[in-house]
Amino acid sequence: MEYIGYMVILLFCCVNTAHLLKYQHNHDWDLLIFTQQWPETVCKEWVHHNPSHTCKMPKKEDSWAIHGIWPTKLGTLDPSFCNRTWLFDPEEIRPIETDLINVWTNIEEGTGIYSFWAHEWNKHGTCAAVLEPLDTQYKYFSKGLNFFQQYDMSAVLAKSGIVPDDDNEYKLLDIYNAVKNTLEVNPSIQCRVEEGKSFLVEIRICFDKTLNLTNCDGIKYSRTVNQVPVITNCDPSSGILYPHNKLPPKKIYVELYKLVSWLQWLTL
Ligand SMILES: *[C@@H]1O[C@H](CO)[C@@H](O)[C@H](O)[C@H]1NC(C)=O
Ligand SMILES: *[C@@H]1O[C@H](CO)[C@@H](O)[C@H](O)[C@H]1NC(C)=O
Repeated sequence: MEYIGYMVILLFCCVNTAHLLKYQHNHDWDLLIFTQQWPETVCKEWVHHNPSHTCKMPKKEDSWAIHGIWPTKLGTLDPSFCNRTWLFDPEEIRPIETDLINVWTNIEEGTGIYSFWAHEWNKHGTCAAVLEPLDTQYKYFSKGLNFFQQYDMSAVLAKSGIVPDDDNEYKLLDIYNAVKNTLEVNPSIQCRVEEGKSFLVEIRICFDKTLNLTNCDGIKYSRTVNQVPVITNCDPSSGILYPHNKLPPKKIYVELYKLVSWLQWLTL
């Protein structure tokens, strides 16, 4: 009887330890992905979901916007939500809030002032926080601003002549090589298909745990294009659109509509 008792205790302890190890293991990651997004494409998708949606654009014309810094285990989209009690707190980022509005812009207008940053912190920031330079909300968001200044995709792409264009398409390899040649690492290029056309939506670059640039090799979504391994979800056989960011015309229409209604009322 006593023997069985020990067995049960032993079993219980081992199962518990294994569970704990597995839990910790799940929060491991290999590199940081810094993702910038192209506001026009994000907006297109947001409005596509629901035509009444409106978008908020970054302050600067034709500027990329930050999406997030994502700790990543190679070949997976993990980890995420590493500390469910350490929630986003607007007070922590107050000193840099204006900068965040300008370049870490919540394009999906109307979803709440802090919802985008709260999502990025709660899902990814809590996992990045094992590194000392990212171990507070202020540091995490400041590092994003800092990366953006250093690796602004408008500048990186323009160096190879890739600039926003409403009419002409770019080739996947030209975009990929533009980033690769300037930053000397392999990036990841992401597209979104809207109405049968491919639009550039995200460019991801990777950092090691010392926050030095590194190849994104091994992260999810890889494919070989003309014998060259390219990290992408884009269809290599179709051209990619990189259109100018347009300001949402909605407000002007509303004003115009009011004016017309008022004139009609006057003339009645
Ligand atoms: C989660 O975050 C809270 C608040 O910062 C902290 O006190 C706690 O130690 C964290 N838990 C883990 C498991 O890291
Ligand atoms: C990171 O970059 C710095 C500065 O370029 C360099 O001194 C350092 O050796 C690099 N760290 C690693 C681990 O490569």
